[in-house]
Formats: sequence, C-alpha cells, structure tokens
Amino acid sequence: MPTPPRSTRFPWSGRWNGVIGASALALLLSSCSLIEIEDAPLSAVEPRGPFAEQINNLFWPVFWIAVVIFVIVQGGILFSIIAFRDRPGRKEPKQIHGNTKLEITWTVIPALILAAIAVPTVSTVFDLTECGDDAMTVEITGHQWWFEYDYPGLGIETANVMVMPADQEVCAVMTSADVLHNYWVPALNGKRYLVPGQETVLRLQADEPGEYWGHCAEFCGLSHSLMRARVLAVTDAEWDAWVSEQQAAATVPAEGTPAYEGMLLYQNLCTTCHTVNYGDASEFTNIRSDDVFRGPNLTHFSSRNVFAGAYLPYEGLSYDDALEQWLANPPDVKPGSFMPNLGLTQNDINNLTAWLATLK
Ligand code: CUA
Repeated sequence: MPTPPRSTRFPWSGRWNGVIGASALALLLSSCSLIEIEDAPLSAVEPRGPFAEQINNLFWPVFWIAVVIFVIVQGGILFSIIAFRDRPGRKEPKQIHGNTKLEITWTVIPALILAAIAVPTVSTVFDLTECGDDAMTVEITGHQWWFEYDYPGLGIETANVMVMPADQEVCAVMTSADVLHNYWVPALNGKRYLVPGQETVLRLQADEPGEYWGHCAEFCGLSHSLMRARVLAVTDAEWDAWVSEQQAAATVPAEGTPAYEGMLLYQNLCTTCHTVNYGDASEFTNIRSDDVFRGPNLTHFSSRNVFAGAYLPYEGLSYDDALEQWLANPPDVKPGSFMPNLGLTQNDINNLTAWLATLK
C-alpha cells in the first residue's frame, strides 16, 4: 500500500500520541488519588446487604453473557480480517449484503437475549423502587457538601454518619437543599439522586454490623469529591444505646473552663447556621429555623468521629489535627465550603475544640 500523503495522516500521530497518552494517564491517576480512596473503599461487586446482592446477582450473569458475545463477535471479526484479507491474485470473497436469512438471524438472536435479560432486570428495578413494610424511615437531605440524616420517628437530627441497626431495612426518603446530589453506598445498594423539591426513595440494609462507605455520585460543585457518606450498621443493643444518646440534650460545660469559653464563642459566631440542643430549659439552646441556611446539627458532634462531609479526618491525619485545620480555615481544607474562615486565634480554636469534645 502506498504511504498516504502527509495531509491525510492524523495530526496527533507520532510523538504527540505519547504526550497525549501520558497526560491522560496522569490526569486519571491524579483524580483517583485526590479522593484518598484507600480508607473508604467503594466496590460495587462486594455486596453486604440484600439490595446490593440483588444488583450483584443481576450484574454477573449479564456480564458473562456479554463476555461470550464479545468473544464471538470479536473472534468473527478477527477471523474475517485474516481469512478474507487481500492477497495478490485473490478474487473478491462472496458478498452477503442483503441476505435476508442472515439479517433476520442476527436481528432475532440479540432481540431474544435482550428480552431474556430484561425480565430479571425490570423485576429487580421495581423491587428496589419501593420500601418494605417493616422499613425504618430515615430522611436524607443533600447539602453542599454533606449529608443530613433525620430520624422522624425518633426526633434525631444528625449529619455525615448514618447509624442503623444491622439486618434491618432503612427506607431512605431523600431530597436536596440546594443542587442535585446522589447517594451511593455501593455495599448496600446502587445510586439514587437527591433532587431539590422532590422526594426519592432508596432501600438500604446491611447484613452484618460494620462500617460502609459511600460517596456523593453526582457532580455538585467545588467539593463534590470530598462529599462522603458513612454508614454504620450496629447491633440492636448498640442501636438502642445510640438512640438514647442522640435523644439526650448536651451538657453545658462548667463555667470558667475552656469548653465554656468555646461555647460562648459558638453562641456569638455560629448559631446562624448550626444548632445545639441543651434542653428546653437552657438559655444556651439554639434551634435554627428550617428556612435558613443549614449547617450540621452539632448537639452530638463528637459522637460521629468524622466531620466536614465525612471527609475529615482522612487516613494519615489525626482527628485533633484535622479539627484544628478545619476550624482555622474551612475553605482551605474543603474548597467552596460555606463555613467561612472566621479568623479564629489559636486560643479560640483551643476553646472551640474543648467545647466540641463535650458534645458527645
Ligand atoms: Cu453532592 Cu456531589
């Protein structure tokens, strides 16, 4: 074959291939490492509950059917390329364009395969759409960039960590306070959108007590990649203990202590967005109204072990260091954070940290 004239070659051929390829690879690798994914595994093929299991049971048969089809089709292409290649003195192979029998065969076979796959797919989709009768409702609200969890029957409002009893279905009724988010805890179920002004439903259940990580799965602004979901499935005894702990009011720290100073600082700076419940009788209780901008309810802040959208502390950073960095300059740690840099002194930060530790 003659060499094509220069102008018809791909403009990115030759060494540009290498440059573009290397850049693409670097971009891919860096986007992976940014999420610090090592401490929060997100595998969709390691189901830990009945709903993820249902998806998994659908995925693998379809995957293997696809593998068989891939091998047959690609094998056929390879065979044709080699067997019917152009050689000097060779006549043109028999043409099959317009062969009705063949055309019908290779239309009917894929249609039958798709129909066969559609039956379990549709039934699974419908099964996952509606919650079971015994499910416990948890309302999930997406915020830039954290998940809020409300347990309507129990009067509990928390953030970043969803606690639930193991072996019990949770019916997550979800919405968003701002933009589209998407709730995804792959060990427990597939993804579902959180839509402003609408309700969506997601069934969640873990077979065993344990920690299950998830992530917001819809680009929702600057810190989307730092918007994580942490689900803690616990034993029945742990669940009862957690509920009574969360229902209790916080305890006002003793006057004159750093924690008390921290609380006063909070009362001055943070009550527009945050809530802390010290009980109905306490002058320090502040419940922000529903229609203002919402930051997380801090009443049991230190019981969660994570903060800032469950992003902090990431692996390799201690809880105390992470909290200090966060209070010193939130938007620096989490780009776009609506918690502003409050210009706190080291003394302020020490007092606030001491105060937050009392919110168990
Ligand atoms: Cu929320 Cu991405």
